[in-house]
Amino acid sequence: IDITVKADGGNATNGHQYGFLHEDINNSGDGGLYAELIRNRAFQASEGFPSTLDAWYSIGGASLSLKKLEKPLSEALSTSLNVAPSSGGYAASAGFFNDGYWGMDVKKANKYTGSFWVKGQYDGQFTASFRSNITGDIFGSTTIQSKSVPDDWTEHTYELRPEIDAPNSNNTLAITFDSSVVDGSLDFNLISLFPPTFKGRKNGMRIDIAEALADLHPTLFRIPGGNMLEGQTNSSWWDWKDSLGPLKDRPGFGGVWNYPQTHGLGLLEYLELSEDLDMELVVGVYSGLSLNGDITPEDQLQFFIDDALDQIEFIRGPIDSKWGARRAELGHPKPFKLRYVEIGNEDWLAGRPTGWETYKEYRFPMFLEAINAAYPDIQVIASGSIFDGHDIPKPGAGDYHLYAEPDTLIKQFGRFDNVETPHIIGEMAATHPNGGTSWDGPMQPWPWWSGSVAEAVGLISYERNQDRIIGAAYAPVLRNLNRWQWPITIVHHAADPALTTKSTSWFIWELFAGHVFTETLPATSEDGFGPLYYVTGKNDITGGHIFKGALFNSTDNADVPVRITFEGVQAGTQAELTLLSGPENPYGYNDPWTGINVVETTKSTLIADAEGVFSFEMPNLSVALLDTAPK
Ligand code: AHR
Repeated sequence: IDITVKADGGNATNGHQYGFLHEDINNSGDGGLYAELIRNRAFQASEGFPSTLDAWYSIGGASLSLKKLEKPLSEALSTSLNVAPSSGGYAASAGFFNDGYWGMDVKKANKYTGSFWVKGQYDGQFTASFRSNITGDIFGSTTIQSKSVPDDWTEHTYELRPEIDAPNSNNTLAITFDSSVVDGSLDFNLISLFPPTFKGRKNGMRIDIAEALADLHPTLFRIPGGNMLEGQTNSSWWDWKDSLGPLKDRPGFGGVWNYPQTHGLGLLEYLELSEDLDMELVVGVYSGLSLNGDITPEDQLQFFIDDALDQIEFIRGPIDSKWGARRAELGHPKPFKLRYVEIGNEDWLAGRPTGWETYKEYRFPMFLEAINAAYPDIQVIASGSIFDGHDIPKPGAGDYHLYAEPDTLIKQFGRFDNVETPHIIGEMAATHPNGGTSWDGPMQPWPWWSGSVAEAVGLISYERNQDRIIGAAYAPVLRNLNRWQWPITIVHHAADPALTTKSTSWFIWELFAGHVFTETLPATSEDGFGPLYYVTGKNDITGGHIFKGALFNSTDNADVPVRITFEGVQAGTQAELTLLSGPENPYGYNDPWTGINVVETTKSTLIADAEGVFSFEMPNLSVALLDTAPK
């Protein structure tokens, strides 16, 4: 295949082509990216989830129960843990332990930061310790002098440094007290423990998971959903105002993915992550439609439009505005950059058909008008695309979601070539096997190699149209291997960081995202597209001319020779070729339990021949990146 790349005539790019959607699905927030180690730390109740004692166990004859005290810790955290002597009485040392999000990683090198609130008469010491859930071995402990009083809540903070590494992650945190000094029972709430966090942020992110995401070089960050934004009903959307401020003021959220959430990973934490990873934000605001099909009628929608304007002001307003001042009060006076706001999520799916009709008729137009009146520079995005039957009013953009078989990604290669309306690809992944029965059949259990190569074809098709495609977001991005419902994610994780696994797709997204175009460059070839799909461009900052290609299903699975000429690039110029190839079995995947990475990365230096041609071969089901930028 011979490809000639013109020296100019392409389109300037926006620099944020690759990123991801994060919402709390698969315990990817609580139990995932959010570093909190204690599960059910505040006994929160939310729609569909009453308060429980899940993850809590008694020590030394303590009887544990939930209480709604006359004086709760806060309005938001109204249920607490009462620890009383059982009928047999307390042992000398009594208390409780928590087994975390299916374990806890305990490392000697880490300093853990703990806190809890107590109410009750106790003049002794508390002991916080890491214990093995199997043998009871103690890996480290510390004592905390009680300041507890009977008629008020007192916060206790401590640092815990293990003396040794625990041999595995099946560990607990225990809090005990000296029962001979306790007068009656004690009440506890908001029992929290953090390991060191990414960039040292308080209430921050788990380091290994955040690093696996940072290493993807993401430039686009869509939050907070996904379905999570919508909530189950019109009274349970992801209300950003509930996610701000001290943890004791965050009530918790029922989410939509069958587990309760703490609200710990709140709007400000998301914004700070966007800053830490230098990602362009795409913030979804609630559109008045929830998953059960509840629709806010036109005459009541103003409440949510005002709420969205407040949210935008919180994110980027000056500190002398009401919500900008609140952001400053919470420690971030500097406004965040926000240029993309999406109205709802997949309104074409929930509450069909009325949800979509009312979206087009009044909900989207009302948000669009109000937001652009206040913020003319914000690109407002609809939650569906022109392919979902939405004639998006100008200056709105669309959002296209694609969870598909590999062949669908290939077939849709030219889909956006002649589409004028800008779109974000707000969610995408290869999820089902070819010949599967689409959503009637199960997803693949893991991202798999040929699916990942098909994603590369999709990404190339979007990057070719990058003057109108805002960017593409992998979704959902994370899954906790102990509790999940959506197997196809770019990174898998569990309590033990050794299990954090980059999927086959990770390597492709990382490679493409790591080589940014400042301008696409038109390419010509007599061979057209298929089985080789490609996009070409240059980067004016690095000086590189770049080719991104994916070979999907060559004839007879044969290797394909590729010859590329960049007009203006001289004979003798060097380029680095990175070739990603996969296992013999196209369904091969990266398995956390074996740790084997089936993606083979080969790097070589190519030199343009006397005619200025770079030549190389691509095996079937491979992805190539050629960049002439000096290393
Ligand atoms: O990414 C998982 C879900 O798929 C999202 O929450 C939703 O928007 C889509 O249907």
